[in-house]
Amino acid sequence: MQPYSGRFLGATLFNCAMTLQHSSRKRLLHFYVYAVALGAVIALVVAAWNQEWDLSTRLVNGLIVILGLALLAELTSVKMHIGTSTMSIVHIPLIASVFLFPPFVAMLVGAVTLLVVEAVVRRKPVIKILFNVSKEILALGLAASFYHALGGRHSVDRFDLAALPLVGAAIAYSTATSVAVSFAVSLSERLDFGETWLRVYGGSLVYDVFSTPLPAFLAYLYVWKELFGVVALAVPLFVVRHIYVQNLRLEQSGRELLELMVKNIEARDPYTSGHSQRVAQYARMIAKEAGISFRHVEQIATAALLHDVGKTYEEYGALIRKEGKLTPEEKRLLQSHPVRSAELISTISTLQGAIEKAVRHHHENFDGTGYPDGLSGDDIPIGARIIMIADTLDAMTTDRPYRTALPFERVLEEVRKFAGKQFDPQLAELVLNSSALRREVAATSHMASQTTPVAFNRASSSKPERAVV
Ligand SMILES: [Fe+2]
Repeated sequence: MQPYSGRFLGATLFNCAMTLQHSSRKRLLHFYVYAVALGAVIALVVAAWNQEWDLSTRLVNGLIVILGLALLAELTSVKMHIGTSTMSIVHIPLIASVFLFPPFVAMLVGAVTLLVVEAVVRRKPVIKILFNVSKEILALGLAASFYHALGGRHSVDRFDLAALPLVGAAIAYSTATSVAVSFAVSLSERLDFGETWLRVYGGSLVYDVFSTPLPAFLAYLYVWKELFGVVALAVPLFVVRHIYVQNLRLEQSGRELLELMVKNIEARDPYTSGHSQRVAQYARMIAKEAGISFRHVEQIATAALLHDVGKTYEEYGALIRKEGKLTPEEKRLLQSHPVRSAELISTISTLQGAIEKAVRHHHENFDGTGYPDGLSGDDIPIGARIIMIADTLDAMTTDRPYRTALPFERVLEEVRKFAGKQFDPQLAELVLNSSALRREVAATSHMASQTTPVAFNRASSSKPERAVV
């Protein structure tokens, strides 16, 4: 067992490294926000310089109506599950302001909307307010530039139905906001930019495409009927928004249900606290490095999260808690858990198919000596082969009742030794060469050892390590 002072020093060095990493990431994020803010100030000055200052009554009335609608839309925005990103229908009145008002006024509508909601209502930190207001100014400035460059002409008196400038402005606005927000989220949460963009905006792409004509329609209705035109569109718009919110909540409750299932498994065995989450994280990383598509990566991560869900059945309770060696009969019973897990998972329609199969076969060995079906090689679903290696990585790098965590170099030796036997040799090679995975396992297993109860080393095993059953 590692001496106490060594462990303490290790923990201190690790905490220092994490603090340094955190502060440099924070500095980078702040630098990014200041750069966006500087860009917004320059854009505002340029727009104000070119502004015609004859503001008609019709324009001021329009400004009040569109600003009111934008504020209402932003106030009723919906929180997404990644970080604190929100999504709303505020882009509709904001893009419409590009078609109705001079660029400076349109940018002002965006700035005032975000400033009022973020600072007065949500009371967000200054840095977040600065970012959200600035990115809105830049996105609207870019949309206005595209609109005018493609032949559009802003007006509150007449509406030109020219598809190219209208669509060009909407695309410019969506691209600018999605890129700016995804970049900020990926910086602050240490996530890959592409993955963040897909997770934050991927699900709403269809919705965004279908809502593209709405800003133009809103501008047209204002030109035609002023306030009554805007109300005629706003009412059905908020009904659609309500349906959309219900869908999001349904998705969210599905995810929360999965988390509840995982907590239920882990409540039975304090030594495996956080195990499923770590296995899901390692599986996600291995799958990504193996070049698997984003959708399939998420399926594999979900399967990894739920791989031992069948262990919640009462028949396994005593076996999981047993401190001594399992009898052959008990071992056989415990080896039925992948089938019970897959059966349980198949009761949820969205988990049937690839996820269910990856769970059923997560204890199949590459050489065909595993269970439940004795599959070998490529006959084992790729998700199951990934979970097998991710499960073993976590089992070996965290404390267990029968031994303390193994050093990572020793774990790699085991992976090398059992490549082609227990593990898919190509995946084993990938794990051996992945510095990102090495960092992740070192950081995550260290945190796990801080929260897992310290175990007595009652049976040091000279046998080669295998994935826990
Ligand atoms: Fe298992």
